[in-house]
Amino acid sequence: MGFNKDFLWGGATAANQSEGGYNADGRGLANVDVVPIGEDRYPIITGKMKHLDFDEEHFYPAKEAIDMYHHYKEDIALFGEMGFKSYRFSLAWTRIFPKGDEAEPNEAGLQFYDNLIDECLKYGIEPIVTITHFDMPIHLIKEYGGWRSRKVVDFYENLVTVLFNRYKGKVKYWITFNEINMLLHAPFMGAGLVFEEGENEEQVKYTAAHHELVASALATKIAHEVDPENKVGCMIAAGQYYPNTPNPADVRQAQVDNQENFFFIDVQSRGEYPNYALKRLANEGIEIPFVEGDKELLKKHTVDYISFSYYSSRVSAVQDEQEKVGGNIFDSIKNPYLEASEWGWQIDPIGFRITINELYDRYQKPLFVVENGLGAVDTPNADGSIVDDYRIDYLKQHIEAMKEAVDKDGVEILGYTSWGCIDLVSASTGEMKKRYGFIYVDRDNEGNGTMARSKKKSFDWYKQVIASNGENV
Ligand code: BG6
Repeated sequence: MGFNKDFLWGGATAANQSEGGYNADGRGLANVDVVPIGEDRYPIITGKMKHLDFDEEHFYPAKEAIDMYHHYKEDIALFGEMGFKSYRFSLAWTRIFPKGDEAEPNEAGLQFYDNLIDECLKYGIEPIVTITHFDMPIHLIKEYGGWRSRKVVDFYENLVTVLFNRYKGKVKYWITFNEINMLLHAPFMGAGLVFEEGENEEQVKYTAAHHELVASALATKIAHEVDPENKVGCMIAAGQYYPNTPNPADVRQAQVDNQENFFFIDVQSRGEYPNYALKRLANEGIEIPFVEGDKELLKKHTVDYISFSYYSSRVSAVQDEQEKVGGNIFDSIKNPYLEASEWGWQIDPIGFRITINELYDRYQKPLFVVENGLGAVDTPNADGSIVDDYRIDYLKQHIEAMKEAVDKDGVEILGYTSWGCIDLVSASTGEMKKRYGFIYVDRDNEGNGTMARSKKKSFDWYKQVIASNGENV
């Protein structure tokens, strides 16, 4: 009973939220670099406001982030000290292909990831690599319109071909797109989309979605050709939608919302567009830009495992006037049975078990929990210590729920990487104040601070969770 002895405990980060070094060693500019903190962030990430360069008026937190570019040795040593078995990070596309459409990669960028991967291996940490985590070269947006262009599939193919060959034998677990379903909610982050006045936004989103789905299948094909040992996963921002009441209309709405969320994974895991999506898109006059060979490619090259983030469950809204709460860009109405985080994200460990079961029942493939955690304000005591019992409590409840899913429901789970194992920039708000880490980073929302790292109380707690293989939470 309990977790498998090879269970991959660890933590997760993303390049744009941690690396900084935005122009180091030939790196090009990315969409995520030019997203500022503040009130313009939301219109920009949702593709409603065109903002493709830096200006003087805004602060851009990703430029320096937590400067992991220069601190990675120290940070990975701390992960090693916690006993991490795995570390999930993403590669910045712009370090490798600064503009995205070059024929040859930037050697300095590849070298950085060689170093980072070797550092992980030194501590026996399995690297879990996300190929794109909300990022793409800004040049591909200016020149081609982001993922709305089919040409971007070719550029992504170049990128993954370089990666799979370069890191062969060192990296086994790959994730093609972080939270691919986020494309529908934050299309600038998910697909580099900026909408033109009056265009059919749904059509553009589903065009880009098709291109990412094809690119993902192509990457899976190439990964397996280059090294049959490679395991490729899809990644969904998960969180079950509950009906607001037992009223059948509410139950039906929750079903529709869940289907919309599962849509991408249905294609990546089952290998074809589900009928509910084909019908709905056809009824709405949205065309899927299939070209010859796409259907076979999707069918043949499905993913090996299902990875997902889970922060919260959601409640479907039928009526607009119901009270909404925050929650990872997704709309949800308030669930009166749940407490919420300081950012309004509802806390639901049973929902985690429900979500795990739902995903496993639907796809019958191993799952990988690659994000889970609590974003909270941490206030250091006078001696600098941080007693983050609220974080320990959240993680404990979720790990226990995951354990029930393994022990009682028989779900196969490869590992668990908690989100933001070291404090980093928030994706939705751009804040540093919204912290997830076991490791505190001295940096604030305005970019002040020494970047010094220190251990929170949760550091030692997580260390013993890993040491006991999840028995001692
Ligand atoms: C997920 C993303 O949506 O949630 C991460 O994959 C993100 O990039 C995480 O950071 C937590 O969200 P936030 O907005 O609190 O940073």
